[in-house]
Amino acid sequence: MNNRVHNLTVPLLFFYLLGSVFGLDNGLGLTPPMGWMHWQRFRCLIDCEHYPDECISEKLFRSIADRMVEDGYLAAGYEYVMIDDCWASKKRNANGRLEPDPERFPSGIKNLSDYIHDKGLKFGIYGDYGTYTCAGYPGSQGHLKVDADTFAEWGVDYLKLDGCHIDYKKIDIGYIEMQKHLNNTGRPIMFSCSWPDYQEEMGMQANYTALQQTCNLWRNWKDIEDEWASVTGIVDWFALNQNRLAPFAGPGHWNDPDMLIIGDYGLSYEQSKAQMAIWAIMAAPLIMSVDLRTIEPKFRDILLNKDIIAVNQDRLGIQGRFILRKEKIDIWTKPVLPKEEGGHSYAIALMSRRVDGYPYRLNFTMAELGIKNSNGFVLKDLYKKDAPLKEINDSEPIIVRIKPSGGEILLATAKPSSTPATVEGI
Ligand SMILES: *[C@@H]1O[C@H](CO)[C@@H](O)[C@H](O)[C@H]1NC(C)=O
Ligand SMILES: *[C@@H]1O[C@H](CO)[C@@H](O)[C@H](O)[C@H]1NC(C)=O
Ligand SMILES: *[C@@H]1O[C@H](CO)[C@@H](O)[C@H](O)[C@H]1NC(C)=O
Ligand SMILES: *[C@@H]1O[C@H](CO)[C@@H](O)[C@H](O)[C@H]1NC(C)=O
Ligand SMILES: *[C@@H]1O[C@H](CO)[C@@H](O)[C@H](O)[C@H]1NC(C)=O
Repeated sequence: MNNRVHNLTVPLLFFYLLGSVFGLDNGLGLTPPMGWMHWQRFRCLIDCEHYPDECISEKLFRSIADRMVEDGYLAAGYEYVMIDDCWASKKRNANGRLEPDPERFPSGIKNLSDYIHDKGLKFGIYGDYGTYTCAGYPGSQGHLKVDADTFAEWGVDYLKLDGCHIDYKKIDIGYIEMQKHLNNTGRPIMFSCSWPDYQEEMGMQANYTALQQTCNLWRNWKDIEDEWASVTGIVDWFALNQNRLAPFAGPGHWNDPDMLIIGDYGLSYEQSKAQMAIWAIMAAPLIMSVDLRTIEPKFRDILLNKDIIAVNQDRLGIQGRFILRKEKIDIWTKPVLPKEEGGHSYAIALMSRRVDGYPYRLNFTMAELGIKNSNGFVLKDLYKKDAPLKEINDSEPIIVRIKPSGGEILLATAKPSSTPATVEGI
């Protein structure tokens, strides 16, 4: 028993120290951030006359905050409610401060932030380091300090700072400066940086050492859009660049492949399962962007799947990797706790590129994935609530039936040497 506690503590300490020595030290994001953000579902919909319930307004964020609490999202770990672009007035006020659009946010941002905090949620907002935001609202260039102070006064807990309207070669300097101003406010503010996205899309490699010291999370690549091709495009880019990116992920600092589009218009149920599985494996921030007032229960169940969230939130914070494509099915793995003497436990995600119309029978072994545990594993299918646990060793075939362009996720818990031979009681 002592041995096992010891084994768990050492790697944890190691990773936390790693975070505090090399990474940003604001105490936030020790596991990937979870929440809701309006952009992917509501974009810059500001027509409140025709769409009063959908337009970017205090009413929208209040009703989403209500759903976050009442429908179990907060309890599952989704704690941030975040405004993206298109909230601001087109001009700064007489004191040079950002203000919300007076018609859509008549009670002010502080009032909305209080409403969200009173529910036990946290509050996030959007800015842009350039002269204008991507949608043409005032940017923070030349106003970094006053904007940091304003956000802190409003009770902001999370800032997404975009990078439109700026020279992409110089973009990093501005984010580092903004981090100093955020820190000087004394308020811990999760800092989401879009700087690598702009550089990587121009074919430049971002400085991930600097990112890790400056930001809690960063958008590496293209914005997600409401279709499967966008999801697979992002997943392929992360797989291609994983050796360069994955080492920079860890407690306090994360690569961000962008929002979850589960429950929107573009993904089937199977494709939604795939996005959730891969995002969990990548230790990606889980930021929903869906109308929580009308989401279908089957999509809600994916977002609220406790076992899959636990894979994502595993305290080691290791970003999982693409391991192998077998019969047009991608297999990704992520080391998770518990770690035993024989080796780590692993989550295993499958993402099918097949389109041949029937659930394909795939088999593989742990050995094929390069995973070993001398005592074997206990295997659990995280999308099947009542599926029996199964004991396996490294060389026994694992069989998964996976639907076209679908996703599955398994948890292979490493067995400690002291565990009795039967599965009972695990
Ligand atoms: C500011 O930075 C210092 C040094 O890294 C850190 O200890 C402190 O927690 C930070 N404060 C906030 C509010 O982020
Ligand atoms: C926030 O605004 C609402 C509606 O405009 C109002 O009823 C409430 O009193 C305000 N709350 C605070 C804390 O100002
Ligand atoms: C990247 O950032 C680190 C930390 O700020 C710095 O020491 C290093 O020189 C930078 N690398 C390049 C290639 O600019
Ligand atoms: C695994 O797949 C291979 C290739 O399709 C097949 O020959 C083999 O019989 C399968 N094994 C099991 C246990 O299904
Ligand atoms: C794994 O289990 C299979 C089936 O129970 C058995 O035939 C095989 O010898 C085992 N392999 C190892 C390495 O234990």
